[in-house]
Order: sequence, then structure tokens, then C-alpha cells
Amino acid sequence: GCRGCPLEHLGEGFLSLDGEGYYSVLIVGEAAGEQEAESSRPFMGPSGKQLQEAINWAGLQRAGFFISNAILCRPPMNVLHGASYEAGALAHCYQVHLKPLIEKLKPKVILPLGATATQVLLGYTNILKVRGYVYRYPNDILVLPSIHPAFIVRGNTKYIQVLVHDLQRAVELARDGWHPPTT
Ligand code: URA
Repeated sequence: GCRGCPLEHLGEGFLSLDGEGYYSVLIVGEAAGEQEAESSRPFMGPSGKQLQEAINWAGLQRAGFFISNAILCRPPMNVLHGASYEAGALAHCYQVHLKPLIEKLKPKVILPLGATATQVLLGYTNILKVRGYVYRYPNDILVLPSIHPAFIVRGNTKYIQVLVHDLQRAVELARDGWHPPTT
């Protein structure tokens, strides 16, 4: 499936889908890093530790989520944003891997973490503006954009609570559906 992708000969490793998904929530990150490429599992490095911490604080379990990425390999030196292959690789990986995965898993909720996954799924890039709102993807799948754990790791620690809250909200949305807020 990677034939013709701009990262076909540049990317390292290839991620498997992670998790048992019993919450019916699909977490979508950005791309594999070094540890992810080695283990073929998403979120195994520093961002993965931060995500695990948020999941623990939310009182949830990592295994309950499905976890994947917008890009399933590791781009050269972890550089995706601003690279010449960025748009082509995102479009290719979405069409060939992520879109069919969503169609197969049929999660009730998708939780894109960060601007890249949010852009791929919804077309929006300003993550701090769109996070916390509920959007719709085809087939009545709800999309709740949230912030990327790497943003927290880079020192924006006040956003930990935001990620914890959004993890809980995603699981609640999958369980109870979306209801308009009462005014
Ligand atoms: N690891 C992943 O699997 N995805 C990310 O977005 C970051 C780290």
C-alpha cells in the first residue's frame, strides 16, 4: 500500500494498530518516532509516556482505545511538518491506511491528537481553537480533536488536564452519544 508514497523509500518501520478498543474510541497521533519504528507500536516514546500518564489520571486503560497515527512510518529524523513530503505522505497514508482502518473498525469516536491528525480528518489546523468541540466524520462517527502529548512534553504542562478531560469525554461520547447542551 505504501507504493507511490513520498515516504516509500525514506520512512522507517511500520506501525500496527494498537489496543483492544473496547471504548470504541480511536486515538490518532501524528507519525512514528524512533521507539515506535523499532517496536511497530504507536506512542511508545516520550509522547507515549505522557499519553499513558493522562490515561491513568483519567481512570482509563490504554488497551481500551484503538491507537494509530496519521503517518504509519517514521519520517527521516522525525521531521514531518514543513518537509517536502508532508502533504503527499499525509494524503497517501490517509487514503491507503487510515481511512480503510476507520471504515473497518467503525469506532464511535475518533480522538485526533494534535494539528496534523486533526487536519487529516477535519481539515482544521488551529488545534487550540478547535479542541473540545465535537465534529462529525462520515457514518455518524464523532470527532473530538485534542492536543498532542508532545505539546505537553515540550513544557506546556497546564494542558495535561485538557488531555485528561478529552480522553474522558471521548469515552463518554462513545458510550452515551452526543446530546446538545441544555441552555
Ligand atoms: N508516537 C506516535 O506513535 N505518534 C505520535 O504522534 C507521536 C509519538
